[in-house]
Amino acid sequence: MFLSVKNDNPTSLRPADSGFTEADWEILAAFWHPVALSSEVADKPLGVTLLDVPVVLYRTGDGIHAARDSCPHRNARLSLGTVKAGRLTCGFHGFEYDGDGACTRIPALSPELPIPKKLCLTRFLCQERYGFIWVSLSDAPRAGLPEWPQVEDGSGTVAIVPPGVWNASAARHIENFSDLCHVPWVHTTTFGGPEVVIPPYEVHKSGLSLAFEVEMMERVRYVEEGHPSATTDVQYNRAFYRYETTLPFSCALRVHHPDSNSTYRVFDVGSPITAQTTRIFQIVVDESRQVAPEALVEFTERINVEDLSQVVAQCPQDLPLDLRDEIHIPADRMSVEYRRAMASLGLGSALPR
Ligand SMILES: [Fe+2]
Repeated sequence: MFLSVKNDNPTSLRPADSGFTEADWEILAAFWHPVALSSEVADKPLGVTLLDVPVVLYRTGDGIHAARDSCPHRNARLSLGTVKAGRLTCGFHGFEYDGDGACTRIPALSPELPIPKKLCLTRFLCQERYGFIWVSLSDAPRAGLPEWPQVEDGSGTVAIVPPGVWNASAARHIENFSDLCHVPWVHTTTFGGPEVVIPPYEVHKSGLSLAFEVEMMERVRYVEEGHPSATTDVQYNRAFYRYETTLPFSCALRVHHPDSNSTYRVFDVGSPITAQTTRIFQIVVDESRQVAPEALVEFTERINVEDLSQVVAQCPQDLPLDLRDEIHIPADRMSVEYRRAMASLGLGSALPR
């Protein structure tokens, strides 16, 4: 079979078979997304996918770099290659590229002949922060990274949760993260409290952020799975939950326990691999410093497992941004405002009705 059909829009990096509409893809491409842990990229290139685009990450003496994971020579995956002396080397024919994406050597080409000028990588903006590598597929991102000072200022014990991949859209994931109604039903072995009526709350909007706070009764955390008290003599704590979602796919949760005056935070970002596959990046900050990082990770992973089975089964997997498509109750105020805010970015506008 021969490739003869070209992308409808040759100026777009969006693959023709992307599950995102062109309009949605362009909007989401203009944000920063985490694509890997910093620790995942050392002396070898790493291939990741963002918004259906294969991306290779590699380090040189200048720092971290991101480019389309495709050698312009024969479209081989550069992530199958190596990094030698600050050059990303294609594993297929040995073409070498520097940190600027320029081809600097072709082993099979006489050094007396010029390297074709078109042999340069499609590079992406890339930066490291909070232990993650972030990429924007746009040259002009419309916003910076989320501001999470507690991850960096020594506020508490910091634990980075190994990122899992969910077969769910990033929007379904992030909406679930700030959904209060599901907590007593889904988180029965972790932090879910007793069945309660969710009191009315307001969602405060500022730029790309949406925030609200409510008081909840939550189950005492860190009761180990299998421990008798995990199923009997369940104890509950008063807690104030404050969620701040930053469009499109990040949310910072602050849990404050007034009785012990302790604070616990979870920073969560869904990275859209495809329209229906999301890598979940999470950092926990425990300001009580009472819990080891390993226990923070283990507890968070148990919470994620509880969420996962419900969220991946939602149908449609795409988040409906037309409010008429699902039924809302007052406790869903945040969800309603999130959908409105995402629609106001222009997302979902190309969906047929
Ligand atoms: Fe949950």
